[in-house]
Amino acid sequence: MGTTRFVAPGFSETIRLQAAQRQGRTLLAIALEHGIPILFNCEAGGCGACIVHVESGDRGVDLELTFEEEFLLRAMGKLEDGLEANAVDGQRRFRLACQYVVGNEDIIVDFTNELGGA
Ligand code: FES
Repeated sequence: MGTTRFVAPGFSETIRLQAAQRQGRTLLAIALEHGIPILFNCEAGGCGACIVHVESGDRGVDLELTFEEEFLLRAMGKLEDGLEANAVDGQRRFRLACQYVVGNEDIIVDFTNELGGA
């Protein structure tokens, strides 16, 4: 079982799903299914509306970015020098909720709903 905790100012909700319920699904899909108010638009990695910070638990964060995610994060200045520059403090990383495919990791997803300013 993996835990996803969604946080924003004045908001916190923890979702626990079995591996089969999480595997292969995006953060955005899980958020929408549970009424988490993450902004989104294109759902294809093209607009940046769904940018979030992802902080890992003890099993780490999936570092694989889709082509669209890497391109857009770089264009937004959130991924200037490779993956390590994406780490705010070694644990938190900018990601696009519509591109982050959830595995078994425990994560905290900080969404501020500020386009480009997560
Ligand atoms: S909804 Fe457009 S990049 Fe995620």
